[in-house]
Amino acid sequence: MLGPSPEAILQRVRELPLLPTVVMRMLALDPESPDFFDRVVGLAREDPPFAVEIISAVNSLDAAPLMPVLRLGDAVTRMGANHVLEMVTEVTVRESFVPNEPTHRHLWSHALEVAGLARALAGWTVFKDADSEAAYLCGLLHDIGRFVMFDDSPDEFGLVDGTHLDSPESLIHAEREAWGFDHVELGLLAAKQMGLPEILSTVIRLHHIPLSLLRRVGDIEFTLAALVQVSDVLALAISDLPVDAHPPEIVPVLGAVAESRDWPEELVELEPLAMLIPGIRAEVERSMIDLGLATPG
Ligand SMILES: [Fe+2]
Ligand SMILES: [Fe+2]
Repeated sequence: MLGPSPEAILQRVRELPLLPTVVMRMLALDPESPDFFDRVVGLAREDPPFAVEIISAVNSLDAAPLMPVLRLGDAVTRMGANHVLEMVTEVTVRESFVPNEPTHRHLWSHALEVAGLARALAGWTVFKDADSEAAYLCGLLHDIGRFVMFDDSPDEFGLVDGTHLDSPESLIHAEREAWGFDHVELGLLAAKQMGLPEILSTVIRLHHIPLSLLRRVGDIEFTLAALVQVSDVLALAISDLPVDAHPPEIVPVLGAVAESRDWPEELVELEPLAMLIPGIRAEVERSMIDLGLATPG
């Protein structure tokens, strides 16, 4: 079923809608409140489409920063309350996403899990040059092409994503079979259209390139792409484990995936990482409840 081209999809999806819960929380923001900025940053950290808005806005200000702003906290402070409020007014009148299938909800939990893992791995071993907050944002937005696809054709998205999430490679393959292109290609065009900084486009473009190739280049965008790739593979590998799995159950799963990937030994320290994973997953679970995409208990 070859459908429209990525360009045609992006003609229809000029910008991403927000979740109804995110809109409600935005409307409840009080600029006079001392925690106004923290709340905005908290929302952007939980919702990739809102993070896109913030990062695009700050990096295209008249006084655009010399270095791209990749930390959501810095971005919100730099924009200032008035600009944030203008943006909130603009985005809250858009149509909302309606994620009513597990595959749709998985888009958010996957983005949050990859972001949390990337933040945890930043600073470790071969990722020692990566800033943890920049790593978080890259993880959050790495699959933005899949959000565009979901918004454009939720049913087709569910059919492909729902059955091919065992590894990133099988997802890419299934997407190409179904649509003639994959979420990397679509994500790259979306990043350009939505005004994301170049470094994020590069991370999106490279996040499924074999790690052995990425690691040969020392530039920071290659390090961030490698970090996102490792986090992506790990997130998919642990997704079959119960949310409350303990480190002794997690270590063998991480070990098996690291071995099957032929990753160098120094890349991921399995035991310390396994200790961090329950906390990361609990945070994702809390965010999913905040977003209205999971129910407590
Ligand atoms: Fe991906
Ligand atoms: Fe992914």
